[in-house]
Amino acid sequence: MKAAVLYEVNQPLVIEDVSLPKPGPREVLIRTAVAGLCHSDLHFMEGLYPHPLPAVLGHESAGIVEQVGSDVTYVKPGDHVVTCLSVFCGTCDNCTTGRTVLCTDTTVKLLPGASNRMQWSKPEKLHQFLNLSSFAEQMLVHENAIVKIRKEMPLDLAALIGCGVITGYGAVVNTAKVTAGETVAVIGCGGVGMAAINGAQIAGAGRIIAIDTNPAKLQLATKLGATDIINPTDGDVVKQVRDLTNGGVHHSFEVLGRKETAEQAFGMLASGGTATIVGMIPFGQKIELHGFDFLRERRIQGSSMGSNHFRVDMPRLVDFYLRGRLHLEDWISAKLKLSEINEGFANMKAGKTLRSVIVF
Ligand code: APR
Ligand code: ZN
Ligand code: ZN
Repeated sequence: MKAAVLYEVNQPLVIEDVSLPKPGPREVLIRTAVAGLCHSDLHFMEGLYPHPLPAVLGHESAGIVEQVGSDVTYVKPGDHVVTCLSVFCGTCDNCTTGRTVLCTDTTVKLLPGASNRMQWSKPEKLHQFLNLSSFAEQMLVHENAIVKIRKEMPLDLAALIGCGVITGYGAVVNTAKVTAGETVAVIGCGGVGMAAINGAQIAGAGRIIAIDTNPAKLQLATKLGATDIINPTDGDVVKQVRDLTNGGVHHSFEVLGRKETAEQAFGMLASGGTATIVGMIPFGQKIELHGFDFLRERRIQGSSMGSNHFRVDMPRLVDFYLRGRLHLEDWISAKLKLSEINEGFANMKAGKTLRSVIVF
């Protein structure tokens, strides 16, 4: 099969011939149908987060089961599935207390450095990324890294649910648990931010403020449920939010991954408000907060993959889409071939696209 390989940071991906072994007892071989380009892939390509190389990136995908291992009963060949990097064991302390995204069992994961799921003719080890490696015609994954979905769901939109949608929606619904009537601000309206906005609408938020430097993104945010828009180029973001909301929001979401915007997210909270950091702030970077703000019970928390329970959440998201409550129809800006993948990342860097997807 063909796969896009990252050899070195800040270098284009190279299409190579790679093969996969037969599934082990609990593994599933999937024919990749669609893979989305997510900003997190770019963070790794730019070396803002470390990963052993060479590696096949990609972690937002949907496909069709081709072959299953001897112990797999959850899926059968022909099933449509969405992948999720939040592979879970189901038995560790975090899994049994319901926090499966924090699963600590390494036997279901292939930790960087231990990958043997992909083979090629070169002597160096080719690393699987986040237990998935979706920029490839096939994927070999643990059965607890997939969820079965209804066949009516278009696979291109299903792929987006695998990372961008669940990350943004889950941050609002699962991590922050936004309730009806609360005020919400979302900083960064890329794919993940749009899903946060749509999630806030589904949760019944009273006011949803979209913040982005790109006017086109703000316009789309309004279509997805934003009640107000703010462009940071018009002046101090925190002041603009405070003026709009009579002193601050109940919930803010940083969906970009920068120190300054994380500080803004905390700064725009009303007393008792909570800032949820979704974006990947460059590895090693610290953020600064005013200690006084904690006296007014302001909180700041992280959200990983939308604190998902993906086997429950993703079929619900599919239903939301099919019933017209999750607006994915405007998400895909470009459909590319695997050979055009570098073009897709260049467009992401230029901020031109919401989501580009590779269609296999
Ligand atoms: N303030 C507000 N928005 C900004 C700013 C700024 N200073 N600078 C850029 N933006 C906007 C861009 O215009 C773009 O719409 O932030 C958005 C980022 O979107 P994408 O690049 O599409 O990123 P996305 O895939 O949504 O991921 C966002 O979430 O999961 C993490 O790793 C991911 O850190 C990344 C973040
Ligand atoms: Zn992602
Ligand atoms: Zn576990």
